[in-house]
Amino acid sequence: MQPSQNLQIDAKRLWDSLMQTAQIGATPKGGICRLTLTDLDRQVRDWFKTQCEALGCSVTVDEVGNMFARRPGKDPALLPIAMGSHLDTQPTGGKFDGVLGVLGALEAMRTLHDLGYETNAPIEIVNWTNEEGSRYAPAMLASGVFAGVFTPEYAYSRLDRDGKRFGDELDRIGYKGGAKAGAHKFGAMFELHIEQGPILEAEDRMIGVVQGVQGMRWYEVTVVGQEAHTGATPMRLRKNALLGSARMIERIDAIANEHAPDAVGATGLIENRPNSRNVVPGEVFFTVDFRHPDDKVLDAMETKFRASLAEILIPLRLTYQEARIWDSPAVKFAPELIDCVRKGAEKSGFTSRDIISGAGHDAAYIARVAPTTMIFVPCLGGISHNEAESTSFDECAAGAQVLLNAVLEFDRRLG
Ligand code: GLV
Ligand code: MN
Ligand code: MN
Repeated sequence: MQPSQNLQIDAKRLWDSLMQTAQIGATPKGGICRLTLTDLDRQVRDWFKTQCEALGCSVTVDEVGNMFARRPGKDPALLPIAMGSHLDTQPTGGKFDGVLGVLGALEAMRTLHDLGYETNAPIEIVNWTNEEGSRYAPAMLASGVFAGVFTPEYAYSRLDRDGKRFGDELDRIGYKGGAKAGAHKFGAMFELHIEQGPILEAEDRMIGVVQGVQGMRWYEVTVVGQEAHTGATPMRLRKNALLGSARMIERIDAIANEHAPDAVGATGLIENRPNSRNVVPGEVFFTVDFRHPDDKVLDAMETKFRASLAEILIPLRLTYQEARIWDSPAVKFAPELIDCVRKGAEKSGFTSRDIISGAGHDAAYIARVAPTTMIFVPCLGGISHNEAESTSFDECAAGAQVLLNAVLEFDRRLG
């Protein structure tokens, strides 16, 4: 079948693959816990590799575990058109965050294969390592190495909260490949993803034509006080690290609210030591996540946050260390690819709207080294990073169809 203007993905096959892989790390509440570089991650990677090889794709793995499944095109001199996302999840993750982008791409590839459709450029599916940043901070770590934002050594040296090194765990699961990250160039990269917010659903639109990603900054704070007996230590003599941290967490929320409606901020991880009911907490570690589409607003939030640490903690006789461990500036996607997505949605008759991503995505880093964009589909109630995350059969199918349409639109322009 060549040339075809109307290749149709197989919605049921896509859904079956989503549900099949959702068993790898399935949680009792219907989500997935498949943290990066665990045995479950290895299992889903092995499954993905087998499926791609069954389509005749060659699968390569780079030095930070990013996987590339390639189907040749008519012109080997053209750079590949990539489609992909991530197969790792949050500890209480849903079935669609990241996974839809990889399996939607697999479905698009299966469609090309079944119909024997020859593209001009090679087509690749990518599974990026550690997008979530839950086990190893920061998020988008291996796409960051691919884009030259981080060195491989930096990625290898990252520690999880149990002290296990990224490099050792990558080796252990057998996915430290030989290819240099980023040596391999793309002509374009399209990432399909669930919106992870409520806008498409509220406006009854099927497709989000993503214009860019807001800026994100992560901080780590350790507050140090003094362990003491909760019964025998007078209030005025205490150095309560948890009390100081609690006041900071309130302040972080207030700072985000001061820059509403576009700013957001949260503490998602806190470790209280020694965490014993009759010991005044001596040390607390917590994280901060600030986001806004304008990097200048993030500068202002950062200044307030740093001033608050001194203002709140010093009067409580606490000391602290603070570090900004991640800064991912706001990103604008490539107009030519955005146009391919818009045409891809129109071609299948789907409603759409322009949208900015509130979540981080590998596409934000890949946009530094290749023309890149994203396609969003709705998720129920806008809920994500939650086992209840839900995107329907039809929405998943629409996303994969627009992904295929957009890739083929871009490819035709190369012909
Ligand atoms: C990644 O999923 C992020 O937005 O934090
Ligand atoms: Mn994701
Ligand atoms: Mn996520």
